[in-house]
Amino acid sequence: MQYSEKVMDHFTHPRNVGEIEDADGIGTVGNAKCGDIMRIYLKIDENDVITDCKFKTFGCGAAIATSSMATELIKGHTVSEALKLTNDVVVEALEGLPPVKVHCSVLAEEAVKHAVADYYNKIGRPLDFELPVDDDEE
Ligand code: FES
Repeated sequence: MQYSEKVMDHFTHPRNVGEIEDADGIGTVGNAKCGDIMRIYLKIDENDVITDCKFKTFGCGAAIATSSMATELIKGHTVSEALKLTNDVVVEALEGLPPVKVHCSVLAEEAVKHAVADYYNKIGRPLDFELPVDDDEE
């Protein structure tokens, strides 16, 4: 299986690993098929800007690389911009993933959406986007 240099870079040196204790939004998703779990923490200011973002992923290399890239892509952006993050964008930023590993990248998009939903819930804002179903809970 051939991984791009970008994937190897983010897998061996993942950015934004860890947790945020007083996070404004936390999203956890799992992949029922492989059992991998990804959790994303967001710190959001009063202008809806994601000022900090961290992740913890118990999963394969592709899942770690995509979490790392996803946090890099949404940090400093607003939550509505973060909601536009699709797995295609993450995979493209990583210069591609082997087809069998694309399902791993979907976790990042889902974890971000769940973290934003958690934030909305905390501040009492109604959900105005579709929340992906967590595979693990099916
Ligand atoms: Fe489970 Fe990649 S094999 S997320």
